[in-house]
Amino acid sequence: MKQFLNLGYQPLANSYLEDKNLNKKEKKFKLVVGFNPKNFLVSILNTVPKEQMFNKNYPYKSSESLTMRKQFKTLASYIKKRFKPKTLLEIGSNDGAFIKNFNKKRVIGVEPCKNLADITIKKGFNIYPNYWDTTLAKKIIKKNKVDLIYSANTLSHIKNYSEIFKAVNITLRSNGILVLEDPSLLECIKKTAYDQFYCEHIYVFSGIALQKILDQFNLQIFDIENLKTHGGSNRYYIKKKSNLSISISKNVKVNFQREIQYGLHKFSTYKSFAKKVSKSKIKLKDIFDKLKKNNKKIIGYGATAKSCTVLNYCKIDKKYFEYFYDTTSYKIGKYLPGTKIMIKKYKKLKVNDADYVYLGAWNFKDEIFKKEKKFIKNGGKFITHIPSAKII
Ligand code: TYD
Repeated sequence: MKQFLNLGYQPLANSYLEDKNLNKKEKKFKLVVGFNPKNFLVSILNTVPKEQMFNKNYPYKSSESLTMRKQFKTLASYIKKRFKPKTLLEIGSNDGAFIKNFNKKRVIGVEPCKNLADITIKKGFNIYPNYWDTTLAKKIIKKNKVDLIYSANTLSHIKNYSEIFKAVNITLRSNGILVLEDPSLLECIKKTAYDQFYCEHIYVFSGIALQKILDQFNLQIFDIENLKTHGGSNRYYIKKKSNLSISISKNVKVNFQREIQYGLHKFSTYKSFAKKVSKSKIKLKDIFDKLKKNNKKIIGYGATAKSCTVLNYCKIDKKYFEYFYDTTSYKIGKYLPGTKIMIKKYKKLKVNDADYVYLGAWNFKDEIFKKEKKFIKNGGKFITHIPSAKII
């Protein structure tokens, strides 16, 4: 593993602080990102035990995002039409935003965060409140193997990928399908979105790296869709290599070629990415410093894990911000880890609220700009760091 990016000491990005903990010392870990030239895998080098990140206090709920709800609904009907699965399992079923589109009797959810698992258990879904591994897979198949496994923004959070894919192979029928969705490394590098790297995102996958891993488990990508979600993601359709009834779409080659053309198989690409990240930090800090000097009122929009990484890395803390707005009930009344910026319940932006609004949830820019049309029309300004630090 060759190191290329050092994002400094970071708190756990989703450990929002309560009032009573504001003066306690936070746990921090060194966030360093590396590249493996053998399998092209990009990953963070110092990982945090999963129990510290994915537990009963996990704040992220898929159902609270309109974009995600819509996308899951569309995908569910597409999957029903294209693959007609009789049984479906979701790894990381969160609060049920995806599985709710299926017949309760035919879906299984796996969700280790108890607060989220409980939401779906109460609704009568069959949920295993466990981490995804081979022990669980063996337990699940005592009833039946499954036709389709879906997992969005979860597998990149699991360190031991060998366990993941062994468990997939155990659970999936020989003609079964695995559908994976995760942020795209190509988009991350192109947009200088270094905030895709934080404690939970152990891997940011490229298609070429993912296929190299899948080779070890006799699994094969047969189709890829490029999505806008989470700042640019890929949806991979995967089958067992022994299943010859499905042909490989030309999308796979097109995506792999695009990644190779951009140099995702070369260390030098990551070194120049790291240089861009350093420049982005200087520029963003400079914007905030100038605005602060001119007594501008700045608030944040979307208290994301991503903004936690950016603000801690760029050393932009509560001195610069009045507060952050966020819609997530769990985050409201708490403070961003590290920078200790207060999070308030979201209200539609008014020009008097702030001179500048830092777009923490840049991955929902379209949804947010639509919602805040009036603020923008009346001269409201946003600050973003994607694809480069600027005021828009
Ligand atoms: P998310 O996309 O999960 O980012 P990360 O994985 O980096 O935490 O989080 C989006 C956050 O933005 C979430 O806390 C909800 C918030 N949000 C708003 O407050 N208003 C909005 O209109 C949208 C779309 C999101």
